Amino acid sequence: MSRKHVKRTTHDARRTTNIAVLASGNGSNFEAIVGAIKRGYIKKTCVKLLITDKEKAYVRVRAERLGITQLYINPREYNTGGAFDKKLIQVLKKEKIGLVVLAGYMRILTPVFVKKFKNKVINIHPALLPAFKGARAIGDAYRYGVKITGVTVHFVDECIDHGPIIAQKPLPVKKGESLSGLERRIHRAEHTLYPLVIKKISEGKVKVRNRHVQVG
Ligand code: GAR
Repeated sequence: MSRKHVKRTTHDARRTTNIAVLASGNGSNFEAIVGAIKRGYIKKTCVKLLITDKEKAYVRVRAERLGITQLYINPREYNTGGAFDKKLIQVLKKEKIGLVVLAGYMRILTPVFVKKFKNKVINIHPALLPAFKGARAIGDAYRYGVKITGVTVHFVDECIDHGPIIAQKPLPVKKGESLSGLERRIHRAEHTLYPLVIKKISEGKVKVRNRHVQVG
């Protein structure tokens, strides 16, 4: 088998995984992940750091309550995305972060960042990719009139909402359901799917070959 065709495990299961969560908003996924680790559902994993680009993000309140170290990086102090991500890389390397978890992080990562952390950055998206990319996926799918939507967890590559898909959870839209009702159910599904994927990664059970991800 040529080197190119060897499936790569994204993680060494014998080691503790240090996670950094990057978030810009509410932080319910961040809290679900921290809770899953505290309950022992995800083992040998530690959320070392929350990083945010928004000073007033509610996720910071959650981090304070949960006792997680947090770092606010002010984008205004960095005149380009490249400079901002350089700072990120510096922090993540210093903290020996093995997995970067995007949870409502609304900045686009630069190709340099993505290359440095290839197959080490995951994202959650509130639709069944590749449908309804972007920042308003739940409403976009709802207004389009889809019968089935859902949640996707994927590796992050150079393109937005595009990297190899790790897991998806489909959710049928109920007859007469309101947008807020659908939003609630999507978020509930996210809070189960994201911890499950992180658990699998920490156990070394996620293997990537090109766009194909095998979850054991
Ligand atoms: C989540 O619904 C997540 O899927 C979405 O932002 C929300 C963050 O919620 N991400 C995207 O739309 C990325 N394209 P949270 O701050 O409560 O975790």
